[in-house]
Amino acid sequence: MTRAFNFGAGPGMLPAEVLAQVRDELIDLHGSGMSVMEMSHRGKDFMAIAQQSEADLRELLSIPANYKVLFLQGGAQGQFAAVPLNLLGDKRRADYINTGHWSKRAIAEAERFCKVNVAASSETSRFTTIPPQREWSLSADAAYVHYTPNETIGGVEFHWIPDVGDVALVADMSSTILSRPLDVRRFGVIYAGAQKNIGPSGVTVVIVREDLLDRVQADTPSIFNYRLQAEQGSMFNTPCTFAWYVAGLVLDWLKRKGGLAAMGEINKRKADKLYGCIDGSGGFYSNPVDPPCRSWMNVPFTLADSRLDEVFLKEAQAATLLQLKGHRAVGGMRASIYNAMPEEGVDTLVQFMQQFAHKNG
Ligand SMILES: Cc1ncc(COP(=O)(O)O)c(C=O)c1O
Repeated sequence: MTRAFNFGAGPGMLPAEVLAQVRDELIDLHGSGMSVMEMSHRGKDFMAIAQQSEADLRELLSIPANYKVLFLQGGAQGQFAAVPLNLLGDKRRADYINTGHWSKRAIAEAERFCKVNVAASSETSRFTTIPPQREWSLSADAAYVHYTPNETIGGVEFHWIPDVGDVALVADMSSTILSRPLDVRRFGVIYAGAQKNIGPSGVTVVIVREDLLDRVQADTPSIFNYRLQAEQGSMFNTPCTFAWYVAGLVLDWLKRKGGLAAMGEINKRKADKLYGCIDGSGGFYSNPVDPPCRSWMNVPFTLADSRLDEVFLKEAQAATLLQLKGHRAVGGMRASIYNAMPEEGVDTLVQFMQQFAHKNG
């Protein structure tokens, strides 16, 4: 059996070592006589998994003690609603930064619950850049400021953390969490769907500062109530046990790889190699994003001659380089190079792209 290099944006590639461990433990987890999917989430075996995964996430991200860590369901888009429901408190307005597809979706959902002030937007640049903070118009009475540190489709990424003073900063980190060290203290809430850089789909990680837990609206659905879920160890309802278990194995794998400082170095190198190939192709390939805002995780690129797109994808597939087709909203190609994509995968892609350009240029 060959493991291909899978450049899909999510669900994304998982580390082969983790999948092998899942296989080995599937039928009989730790001598329990059952799989993780069949055991009680409140039994000692699963509780140990839950506790260890939280401890590992805390260690990897150096999460301070005054933050709660939740493993919820409903995906990142569930959080698009959960954020206003939990954070508005007695305020009616929130600031959002619009840097692309996922920001827009977060804004549309928040508008169901509050007045949204789009404090900055890069729409006029077709989302190829990030508006500098000096151009933001933050409101005086916002309950929080929401942004999307990495736009998975457009491939733009903040390589800096906004400074919003005492207002709670909220980040949808679905496609960048755990890709490098992070100063969690700068945030009120961080959330992420797991299926890119944490584990399989089905689990959503929320990291929330304790003092924000009292702001929850009375009519918030219980499963989305951060305070209730924090009190109940993310087990108000039956959690997504299998996805949580696999996420735990990924966190353990990250620790063994040297943690986020080591991952950050590898991820930067991978991104540099791929952008280097695009920029050095003499115009055969191009990436539209302003270089300081280029994502380390999702690299969209187009071929100057789009008639070659189908051939490119077909030949890439034959070379076991999978899921390179760009999102339908932007076309072209996209290589997602999350933590689980080995550097060898990027090297193989670069080599393929160079040969393809040579042959067809
Ligand atoms: C940045 C970002 N936010 C939100 C989502 C939506 O995530 P989910 O499918 O978990 O709701 C995605 C998924 O692709 C994403 O990349």
